[in-house]
Amino acid sequence: MEEISIAQGIGKQATYQQLLPQIEALIGDEPDLTANLANTVAALHHTFKFWWTGFYLVQNNQLVLAPFQGQVACTRINFGKGVCGTAWQQKQTIIVPDVEKFEGHIACSSATQSEIVVPIIIDGEVVAVLDVDSEHLNNFDETDKTYLEQIALFIGKKFN
Ligand code: SME
Repeated sequence: MEEISIAQGIGKQATYQQLLPQIEALIGDEPDLTANLANTVAALHHTFKFWWTGFYLVQNNQLVLAPFQGQVACTRINFGKGVCGTAWQQKQTIIVPDVEKFEGHIACSSATQSEIVVPIIIDGEVVAVLDVDSEHLNNFDETDKTYLEQIALFIGKKFN
């Protein structure tokens, strides 16, 4: 596959429905984790024109910045800290409609207004999180949660 192709003006759900099989095709046969994380964030980021899209990997009991698209970001996040560390701690997706109202939000970029963080869980343990930030308030909803969790499940199979 050479590029992601999505019909224009079809709405969020239909966009995810077109995007998911293309991400699966992109990474399905490739064993390299970094390559797969990189292509997944690129596909998501440019399809939806998010502000920031990236992975953090759990390494030595911290979240460490991994492939992303967008501006430079915080390199390390501790367990329970920020939205990412909280999603890790709670082992569940967190939607933040307004980051100003999330106590302890880590502002890597002052432009970020809303955020969703989806943990990638293998055998009950979080191995990474997918963090997506928007410069618009209230940008993420149950549709994003549903499809980003499907991506997280698929990506989870690429971890060893
Ligand atoms: N806002 C996140 C930190 C990561 S950056 O936004 C890329 C948080 O509160 O965990």
